[in-house]
Amino acid sequence: MEETQSVRLGVLGCGTVGTSFCQLINERAPEIARRTGLSLEVVQVAVRDMTKTRDGVDPAILTNDSAALVERPDVDIIIETMGGVDHTRELVLRAFAAGKPVVTANKELLALHMPELFASAAEAGVDLELEASVAAGLPFIRALRESLIGEEITRVMGILNGTTNYMLSQMTENGADYDEALAEAQQLGFAEADPTADVGGFDAGSKAAIIATLAFGQAVRAGDVHIEGIESITADDIANAQRLGYVIKLLGVVEKNADGSVAARVHPTMVPVDHPLASVRDSFNAVFVEGGGVDQVMFYGRGAGGHPTAAMMVGDAVNAAINLQSGCNNELGQLPAANVRSIDDISSAFYLSVDANDQPGVLAEIAGVFGNHGVSIGSMEQENADDGSARLVFITHEAVERDFRSTLADLDQLDAVKTVGQVLRVIGS
Ligand SMILES: NC(=O)c1ccc[n+]([C@@H]2O[C@H](COP(=O)([O-])OP(=O)(O)OC[C@H]3O[C@@H](n4cnc5c(N)ncnc54)[C@H](OP(=O)(O)O)[C@@H]3O)[C@@H](O)[C@H]2O)c1
Repeated sequence: MEETQSVRLGVLGCGTVGTSFCQLINERAPEIARRTGLSLEVVQVAVRDMTKTRDGVDPAILTNDSAALVERPDVDIIIETMGGVDHTRELVLRAFAAGKPVVTANKELLALHMPELFASAAEAGVDLELEASVAAGLPFIRALRESLIGEEITRVMGILNGTTNYMLSQMTENGADYDEALAEAQQLGFAEADPTADVGGFDAGSKAAIIATLAFGQAVRAGDVHIEGIESITADDIANAQRLGYVIKLLGVVEKNADGSVAARVHPTMVPVDHPLASVRDSFNAVFVEGGGVDQVMFYGRGAGGHPTAAMMVGDAVNAAINLQSGCNNELGQLPAANVRSIDDISSAFYLSVDANDQPGVLAEIAGVFGNHGVSIGSMEQENADDGSARLVFITHEAVERDFRSTLADLDQLDAVKTVGQVLRVIGS
């Protein structure tokens, strides 16, 4: 047998992802060595609590000195699975300064500091690998960076958060209301005790920033992403969407406009049932890429979980090891600050429900308000109630957000309008 080259890994963190990473390296090392000639081995793991048992990890390789680990001369690559931002950023920068590539799954860190971290890695001539940071178990970051580099990508839409996709699937398929779906997600371990990062759209927002940066080559940061969560979605909204031929998904949408500006947003979205993203159920994730030549490309898989995340990080570690052996690295190039288009200037089709008096002339009055703001109605349904009121459900053609919001404000002023109800963007028709 040919001799293999030893590659020594230092792992920061040994929780859900770190433990799976160590286990997977142990399992896959012989096969990886057979295929690549590289013998990957975890030599040290940094944690906070040295007394905790870590399944499949030798206690002798634990340390609570993460700063020393990133600078250990006999460690080749740092695998960052500890999360957090400020302290972790320091450690990652120290690893680069010590000439070590870093593999990370840390979306918060990247969504805030990606340009600085890539510049620092480039200066050191080493890799920053981030496949697991977005939709963890889907191997699409490398596809976006490398396979699709010849493609002008115009839009990427993703179901980027498994918790909310699970909840919306439960609401759609089993008629659960929001609270029931959240309680079930928490019981199954899909949602944290404090679910804000997931249901509020913030987790997906960090991922959208990373996708936009990689897809468009401009530095889009977490704060550039317009974020709305799913907290206001009711069983009624889900039923209405279904009746009209749509499902509601929390989508991250990043777009490049003809003027070179970019837009990044996360919000609940009505997606036609025949769109590929509509069939992504439960806690699965998917990323749907649109470009001029490739047309549509979709990636589907497990967006979280120890093993799927670790699987992508093992792939990243092998990639970083191969580059390290060859003395080369994969850079992102110049990342100018993004020219970000405000949500007010973005166009979408909209769904809107309005409760109004069921009287002659009311419909014309409402339609007039849409017309005054240049918002064109694509379809309308009316459902009469016994109390003399009517629920009107509209789907508009594409309209600029600012014009649509002005329409809502004026509708709210009409005497005949009792309530302006749920508003959702409609994408993918
Ligand atoms: N879980 C997933 O499905 C998933 C998917 C994609 C990406 N990610 C990302 O992967 C990262 C890790 O997630 P996780 O779920 O594995 O987290 P976790 O279970 O909470 O594990 C974090 C680990 O880091 C250690 N740690 C935290 N702060 C530390 C410090 N200052 N010094 C030394 N060790 C420290 C903890 O040590 P103790 O054990 O001693 O407390 C723990 O072992 C996060 O960035 C997360 O966003 C996770």
